[in-house]
Amino acid sequence: MNGGKHCVALIVAAGRGERAGGDVPKQYRRVGGKAVLAHAVDALLTHPGVNGVLVVIGAGQEQAYREAVGGRPLPEPVIGGETRRESVARGLAAIGGADRVLIHDAARPFLPAQVVDRLLAALDRHPGAIPALPIADTLARGGDVLGDMVPRDGLVRVQTPQAFRYGPIVAAHRAWPAGREATDDAQIARAAGLDVAIVTGDAALEKITFGDDVMTAEARFAARLVSRTGLGFDVHAFRDGAELWLGGVRIDHPRGLAGHSDADVALHAVTDALLGTIGEGDIGLHFPPSDLRWKGADSARFVEHARSLVEARGGIIDHVDLTIICERPKIGPYRNGIRARIATLLRVEEGQISIKATTTERLGFTGRGEGIAAQAVATVRVPKDL
Ligand code: CTP
Ligand code: MG
Repeated sequence: MNGGKHCVALIVAAGRGERAGGDVPKQYRRVGGKAVLAHAVDALLTHPGVNGVLVVIGAGQEQAYREAVGGRPLPEPVIGGETRRESVARGLAAIGGADRVLIHDAARPFLPAQVVDRLLAALDRHPGAIPALPIADTLARGGDVLGDMVPRDGLVRVQTPQAFRYGPIVAAHRAWPAGREATDDAQIARAAGLDVAIVTGDAALEKITFGDDVMTAEARFAARLVSRTGLGFDVHAFRDGAELWLGGVRIDHPRGLAGHSDADVALHAVTDALLGTIGEGDIGLHFPPSDLRWKGADSARFVEHARSLVEARGGIIDHVDLTIICERPKIGPYRNGIRARIATLLRVEEGQISIKATTTERLGFTGRGEGIAAQAVATVRVPKDL
């Protein structure tokens, strides 16, 4: 795909997002279940033509950055400057060497792979290439009253990523006069006499600039998702001399449950419900009882594993409804604790978790106090093509 050429993607995320407002800069806001920046990172990390991704962040954004990108395979971020141009220049310097670079705004979360394909193909023939779209609206000079119309023939809307051969764009940035600003790198390339090709951009690449754009991005993302439901069910028998764990919470009770792991029947049901939403088999498939590693294991690990599988597929957990079935212990006093614990494990709000408990009117094995059963229903949204 990249013809043996080393291609680095540079994502600039050092802005303050003042026009978009909000508590955190727009690139760290969550859209479609993950940070805006994480969408851009994932699109570039997974593209076969890209060898590595480097992110430029603002001073003091280290914590927000780490929360946004989690365990993704990225080098330490570079600290940017006061303007986008300075941030790019610092990122280019930190790359040190490459054949090609794709310079992308973190504020453009949805990057179709085809746009990157077109840019890289154009770079075979030109030192620079950018995605652009035609302008549909009438253009005019504004103000309090309408000014002159601006003919839109031949005008385009310029997007990112912008692709360049590495040496020439580094030289162009160095040659750019200090103190003058540029809103993108194509301007800087052209000022240095580089020929910049135009390829077809994509409406999904729209930049998040104003507050409403975050909602538009959320809607654009939601339109690509479908809802899936998964059901989980589990039973464990009581055993003397064991601790009782339910929903990740230690319960004060004379008897615990028998099992290979900590026998947290409620978390096992939640795990299976989540696995069910993505057709990933069941808990025994992922954590075989024959495997000594899971002996006495904290079942929180199983839930976290299922959550990470859902997230790896671009899924969002919307809701989990858990029912614990037993005569004793009484679940009521632990309900809030279990709810909070499961919300933490799934990284959702407590309002997205429901905890119910019931007896079976002294009927059956739960009625006789021989064990505890649990069932859970998980609702997630996943990309349509999953
Ligand atoms: N950017 C940057 N360093 C800066 C300014 C901007 O890396 N000093 C990045 C932003 O994080 C964003 C991209 O450049 O991903 C495009 O800039 P813009 O949309 O203007 O973002 P902000 O500068 O953050 O927003 P605002 O201008 O509204 O404050
Ligand atoms: Mg800005």
